[in-house]
Amino acid sequence: MKIVSSIADLRQQVKEWKQAGQTIAFVPTMGNLHQGHLSLVEKARELADKVIVSIFVNPLQFNDKADLTTYPRTLANDSELLRSLDCDLLFTPTEDTIYPLGMDNQTIVTVPNMDDKLCGRHRGGHFDGVATVVLKLFNMAQADVAVFGEKDYQQLLLIKTMVKELDLPIDIIGVETYRESSGLAMSSRNQYLTESQCNQAASLHQTLLSLKQKIEQGEQNFLVLQQQAMTTLTELGFTPDYVDIRCANDLKQANSGDKQLRLLAAAQLGRARLIDNIACNLD
Ligand code: PAJ
Repeated sequence: MKIVSSIADLRQQVKEWKQAGQTIAFVPTMGNLHQGHLSLVEKARELADKVIVSIFVNPLQFNDKADLTTYPRTLANDSELLRSLDCDLLFTPTEDTIYPLGMDNQTIVTVPNMDDKLCGRHRGGHFDGVATVVLKLFNMAQADVAVFGEKDYQQLLLIKTMVKELDLPIDIIGVETYRESSGLAMSSRNQYLTESQCNQAASLHQTLLSLKQKIEQGEQNFLVLQQQAMTTLTELGFTPDYVDIRCANDLKQANSGDKQLRLLAAAQLGRARLIDNIACNLD
């Protein structure tokens, strides 16, 4: 596995692969890799001849500076894991490479209708930071396909919307959330949990599953259901940001009669902000 940090080195390798007629799959990450990330790399392996993974802890998408400072950086371990999965190239740019004129002078990409809902409402500027860095990384890697996790469902839709609206020549593939046996969605931030909080954290997923069950049984007052789930989470010791029943394709507020739903939640538990979501198809 090659490890490169400069755009020029990345482009040189990509050029050689393209000249040889090889296809490229790309997995952008912020590192501290766990099995959830690795499942994306495995998917990427199936989709193309060559696999590029990037590791860049993107300061532009952190609305909380303390979160940025403490975000776990584990490059040596990450590169070992990627090597074992037969990743072809690891791109590890520095902040200067991505934002040479500084973040304040950076052209920003805004995908509309994201900041008014779900994580957008609770993390001001976050999705502009994500869209901007992902567009830049796409332009650097020039891959045929990129792989993202459904764990960050709003992010996945944001990227799909950006690709469609800016006519980017890349396919976006979503991979289902990888979970601990308890149901807890794997996340770099889970390591902020104590052992007992880890057990407690699994009930975020349980709460979404029982919400799904109620909807499947015909309960239609979504606002009441959301409120009940928020109360449940609070009683379980979480500080919930939201529990929301949305249309799966565009994240608009769902009404009774909508069939393809996505149930999404975010909640603080101790030091960790946890997010999760599941599908709920009524067809
Ligand atoms: P990061 O949080 O490192 O996640 C990288 C990719 O891994 C994302 O597509 C995310 O959805 C996916 N992922 C994380 N946990 C997962 C799990 N348990 N199961 C399946 N996939 C999972 O998301 C980001 O980085 C950044 O916002 C990024 C897109 C790299 C832009 O900076």
